[in-house]
Amino acid sequence: MANQKSEVGELDHIDEILLDDLAIAEQVEKAKQERNAVILAHNYQRPEIQDIADYTGDSLGLARQASGTDADVVVFCGVHFMAETAYILSPEKVILLPEPEAGCPLADMATPEEVGKMHSENPGSVVISYVNTSAAVKAESGYCCTSSNAVQVVNAVEEDTVLFVPDRNLAAYVEGQVDKRIIAWNGYCPVHEEITLEQVLEALSNHPGVEVIAHPECRPQILAMAHHIRSTSGMIDAALASTAEEFIVCTEEGMLYPLSKAVPEKMFYPPAGEHICPNMKLITLSKVLWALQTLEPRVTVPEEIRVRALGAVERMLALG
Ligand code: 13P
Ligand code: SF4
Repeated sequence: MANQKSEVGELDHIDEILLDDLAIAEQVEKAKQERNAVILAHNYQRPEIQDIADYTGDSLGLARQASGTDADVVVFCGVHFMAETAYILSPEKVILLPEPEAGCPLADMATPEEVGKMHSENPGSVVISYVNTSAAVKAESGYCCTSSNAVQVVNAVEEDTVLFVPDRNLAAYVEGQVDKRIIAWNGYCPVHEEITLEQVLEALSNHPGVEVIAHPECRPQILAMAHHIRSTSGMIDAALASTAEEFIVCTEEGMLYPLSKAVPEKMFYPPAGEHICPNMKLITLSKVLWALQTLEPRVTVPEEIRVRALGAVERMLALG
């Protein structure tokens, strides 16, 4: 009986949370109209954030949306470098990052000083920086790239030697796809780095015969066994195009939500273990509402850095 009571109590509590979420989501919608704002969310965001977003996608898709929107205000539900990229492209807009502490440890692994030094030590090379970098690092780069176009960008540049910053796993993957010399920065994403071969094999033993989809930030051993190596949004395309019905998804586990939403007839499983990007989960509905009401916290970039970073981002976008 006592148990039953506590179960009913717990259900009431869950109902209250859902009602709260619903009420906040309604206020967010109202505030969004009043501000002429658009809400952009990365694929790893909490489900309730993805549900209120005007657009959910990967880094490249989000950058394109940010540059294409005619909204006055962009609420960026992602991490700091993503909001910075939106500002680089659209400095006339108010770019809000509802949680200013939402950073990316991978992006923090490269500084503009170190990248500039490495470039000067390798004359004739070009710096290609992954979008997961600060604006200041992008400003030191010839081109920017994302996980969905890295191979294309490396192939498109004139130079035969590429300094690839900062993700070593993506760099190794690109190196295997192109006929150029890649000098890799020694950075990595802690979330993807912690996905081990054993964890993927454990998931495969529970779901034999399924296909493996991996993000290129995963370790080379994982990429070697993957059927599909894609950006987060590319994973949705791969699942739609494949004849397989079930997949192990090697990336941050928030990705299971947009995959299940876009491809509800197929099954998606994580590798063993917990693979959560804590930074991506910092943004909540209440913080989005607060940001819309106060137009804070804003993300900006000093103009001198922005124009140089813009060159690298625009050269990437121009490749289509
Ligand atoms: P995508 O551009 O593939 O969404 O990747 C962003 C990211 O931070 C992956 O960890
Ligand atoms: Fe950065 Fe990794 Fe989080 Fe992506 S998952 S935002 S690369 S820490």
